[in-house]
Amino acid sequence: MPEPIIRLEHVEKAYNSQGKLLKVFEDLNLEVYRGELLAIFGPTGCGKTTLLNLIAGFDKPQAGKIYVKNVEIGSLPESRLADFRRKHVGVVFQTDNLVPDMTVFENVELPLVFAGVGRAERHRRVEEALKAFWISSYADRKVSTLSVGERRMVSLARAVVTDPEILLLDEPTDFLDALTVDLMISSLKGRLMRGKTLVATTHRGRLVRVAERVVRLKKRLP
Ligand SMILES: Nc1ncnc2c1ncn2[C@@H]1O[C@H](COP(=O)(O)OP(=O)(O)OP(=O)(O)O)[C@@H](O)[C@H]1O
Ligand SMILES: [Mg+2]
Repeated sequence: MPEPIIRLEHVEKAYNSQGKLLKVFEDLNLEVYRGELLAIFGPTGCGKTTLLNLIAGFDKPQAGKIYVKNVEIGSLPESRLADFRRKHVGVVFQTDNLVPDMTVFENVELPLVFAGVGRAERHRRVEEALKAFWISSYADRKVSTLSVGERRMVSLARAVVTDPEILLLDEPTDFLDALTVDLMISSLKGRLMRGKTLVATTHRGRLVRVAERVVRLKKRLP
């Protein structure tokens, strides 16, 4: 049995919404193995984004433990958690958080600036990431002038530019036409071949068909 790179044990997550407790996960157990593409599939509101936020450490469970690379991320102080995430995890958010006033190049370069990578190496890696998602031709465009689908590709390039071991993708196929989805999947598959681990949420068929494993979440009734 391969070793899991991500492990969730008895995770409980609830939100307090206007005085009402909304339970999303009561006892979630999940293992993600090194080098696999795992699809998280389920209807709107079932907890897909919540699950990725928990794995990335942006959100914390009320109970249970989450291990990433054998580190219990709940035990890390905020500064070490940010550092850990920067080193090992790339995230593509469902609603992107690109900086609209900066160019595509500058947005993709940002994680490398934070990681203290030198200028020449930064340029080499940004160019490679832009090429991987076919967006080299709009490197100098401001993000605010791009279409939603184009922005999605920029988010993908930014998530892979540090070559993280783990990629968390929230609805990566949204806003993309079928051909672009295929191009994106082939680029992601190249990463799998190099031993990276991908967790992608989706409510569409295409990603589910190419994933090695699919976890289906159900929406809990309030
Ligand atoms: N900050 C929050 N406060 C209160 N409730 C929240 C919060 N974030 C999420 N929820 C609720 O938790 C449930 C799960 O939300 P989540 O965003 O994880 O769903 P999802 O599966 O990603 O949905 P979608 O397919 O629409 O992206 C939803 O019912 C949502 O309303
Ligand atoms: Mg979501």
